[in-house]
Amino acid sequence: MDANSSGTNATVGSLVLGFSNLRETRNERPMVVSGGDGVFIVDENGKRYIEANSSFYCAALGYSNERLVAAAEKQMREMPFYVSGLHRTVPVAMELAERLAELAPVKDAHVAFGSSGSEANDFLIKFIRYRNVFLGEPQKRKIISRLGGYHGGTNMTASLGGSKSLHDSFALNMDDHIFISQPNYPQNAEEGESQDEFVNRLVLELEEAIISADPGTVAAFIAEPICFAAGFYLPPSTYFTRVQEVLKRHGVLFIDDEVITGFCRTGNMFGAETFELEPDCVTTAKGMSAAFFPISSLIMSGDIYNDLERHCDEHGFFAHGSTYSAHPVGAAVALEVLNIIEDTNMLEHVRARSQTFAQRMNSFRQHPLVEDVRTCGLSGAIQLRSEQRGGGATAALTGPSKLLAAASVDRGVLIRMNGPNAIFCPPLIISDDEIEEMFQRFEAALGDVEAEKAA
Ligand SMILES: Cc1ncc(COP(=O)(O)O)c(C=O)c1O
Repeated sequence: MDANSSGTNATVGSLVLGFSNLRETRNERPMVVSGGDGVFIVDENGKRYIEANSSFYCAALGYSNERLVAAAEKQMREMPFYVSGLHRTVPVAMELAERLAELAPVKDAHVAFGSSGSEANDFLIKFIRYRNVFLGEPQKRKIISRLGGYHGGTNMTASLGGSKSLHDSFALNMDDHIFISQPNYPQNAEEGESQDEFVNRLVLELEEAIISADPGTVAAFIAEPICFAAGFYLPPSTYFTRVQEVLKRHGVLFIDDEVITGFCRTGNMFGAETFELEPDCVTTAKGMSAAFFPISSLIMSGDIYNDLERHCDEHGFFAHGSTYSAHPVGAAVALEVLNIIEDTNMLEHVRARSQTFAQRMNSFRQHPLVEDVRTCGLSGAIQLRSEQRGGGATAALTGPSKLLAAASVDRGVLIRMNGPNAIFCPPLIISDDEIEEMFQRFEAALGDVEAEKAA
């Protein structure tokens, strides 16, 4: 068996890796990451990379934040774990719920916790159904989502995004799912269609979907303010306002999935502020704890919560729980993230760095391999000229996307390719110099792809 420089086995061994080709990762040792500092990570061979995607859009404060380490250690020493349930909890869980309720773009917010973004979305849909049972509408359980979106990896949440081939390949239960198109303009536009006409068509598609399903059966619509998985297209400015009008008209709740966009990513605390959304519920994870500990939240309006309470009056018991919901260490870390955002004026920092970031992203517009560039806050996409139009986060890469994914690893910059789109979502703490270095490395990778195509 081959050995790498640290002498360990070359293959992945017993570990099963997601979002990978299973056979390839058994035959070829994956990148094994042994350390990190700031926006950099280091592999087992000592090679340093800029993590231009905050590893799955979550390490928002980089890889070496001493305040987060201290917060976790303090909590572990004081009380490493106690369950939040059975009429028991811990002070940090209560404090975090208060802080999130104050910040969230939801009226009279009430907060529950999970361990991941998937759990937050999954639990929330379960809660909404519990409410509808109380309201005498148990049939109101269908969820509208957008093809190519991503809301998680559990049975329920995997059914909310991706493509038909993803649903078929895992034989997911699709009984209560309704799909509409992504607002990817001009990618999904018909020939000659203006942006206004495009939005009109999508809004009509939504309304027709609700009517043909029967509004009495449709519980909620779930969407990310910007859908990274579907290629990072910014929603046309009227899209969400028009969507929300339709939802209100038919009594369908709006779930705003802020798992990536929450906590300063778009230049505001939540993407809801950037895109003027008025959601009934919000889910958060990832940047919430800067990925130093797995924790997520589901935040619902008082109207929704009060019905849960009333339903409970009838049942006597809210029969929902999860051992690690509101884990004290996760809650302590998430609280410290909120403190850091405040103390370091993170929003100002993100807004200032976003200018440098956008300028540098836009400089790639002239590149022969590049078709389009889109940015928002400290995130964006550089779209390659490619035959591959569809294929998002859950599809295998082909053509120039596959070449660029490999070339950027070689050049020491870790991007995420979603179809033809190179997605950037660096740690929020990135400096102007590091932004420059990130794009120099990326430019070199693009050059490698050009050379390879020409050969
Ligand atoms: C928008 C969005 N929602 C939900 C999830 C699921 O979060 P997790 O992977 O923590 O379960 C993700 C993960 O990438 C996401 O991007």
